[in-house]
Amino acid sequence: MKPSPALLLYDDCTSVCVFCLTVLQTSGIMNTFIIQKINQEEKTMAQIIDGKQIAANVKAQVRAEVEQLKAQGANPGLAVVLVGNNPASRVYVSNKEKDCAECGFQSYEYALPEETTEEELLALVAKLNADKNVNGILVQLPLPKQICEQTILHAISPAKDVDAFHPENVGRIMIGDYSFLPCTPAGVIEMLDAMQIDISGKHCVVIGRSNIVGKPMAMLLLHRSGTVTICHSRTKDLAEQTRQADILVAAVGKAGFVTADMVKEGAVVIDVGMNRNAEGKLCGDVCYDEVAAKASAITPVPGGVGPMTRAILMRNTLTAAKEQLAD
Ligand code: GUN
Repeated sequence: MKPSPALLLYDDCTSVCVFCLTVLQTSGIMNTFIIQKINQEEKTMAQIIDGKQIAANVKAQVRAEVEQLKAQGANPGLAVVLVGNNPASRVYVSNKEKDCAECGFQSYEYALPEETTEEELLALVAKLNADKNVNGILVQLPLPKQICEQTILHAISPAKDVDAFHPENVGRIMIGDYSFLPCTPAGVIEMLDAMQIDISGKHCVVIGRSNIVGKPMAMLLLHRSGTVTICHSRTKDLAEQTRQADILVAAVGKAGFVTADMVKEGAVVIDVGMNRNAEGKLCGDVCYDEVAAKASAITPVPGGVGPMTRAILMRNTLTAAKEQLAD
């Protein structure tokens, strides 16, 4: 609730003139103010997890290390491949270029036409696998329907697979012996760490079972000794499950999916959703205002998980470069 100007005045005053107090008390206005003030204090709003700031810190660390590599004569680089005209993908790719510039990476962009064949894309991936200047390769998804995504993702050299989508990297994540972590789930863990939110022993509920977010998210929470439940479209009584969560991760892809009645008082709520509402505004999976009033900490959309995903891609590119330079 936005406090009235009078209430703001009351909040800010260290000494109030006796005349004013008398007038306010006799008119009953003061009592209303005090009750409002008490109500405000009883209700502690959730801490807002500032993904933008945490991501800026990660990128600053990456930049410092990239500068060291450059001082040793290296010029680490990321290749980003975009096929077709998906407007959202275009934005994501141009953001990645900006991040590369910010972190000091060389970026190589390949924009291929919508009608590119699978063979043509495979040929480009093979060329990038062999190119010593390219340390990381990212093929932006989704791909046009004539191209099998799995075929392409499996063709990227695991050493350059900064998305961590190759089956070899997925398997290594499963057993906890990895070089790269998938960007969004790793970004979520980084945020929890930055906020000093302990995962060990907590009941973590992940809504969504995608290969990109839900499954690896659950695995990373498990690696940190969380007790993990994965919920999905066939889960019976979903709200009953989500209400058990100390840490709730929503990766559904539906605006307003998580409502306050699905959240336990004091839970940490991480919103991975990136949706557009009816007015075209970017919004997450969580009904932010009502859930923020119940949660102990929450990520906003935009400015939460999104910037973290981008920052972890930069960190994975650095890891790839360091490992390749050491070989
Ligand atoms: N499209 C949407 N998210 C991603 C991602 O994390 N990686 C790639 N390669 N494509 C995407």
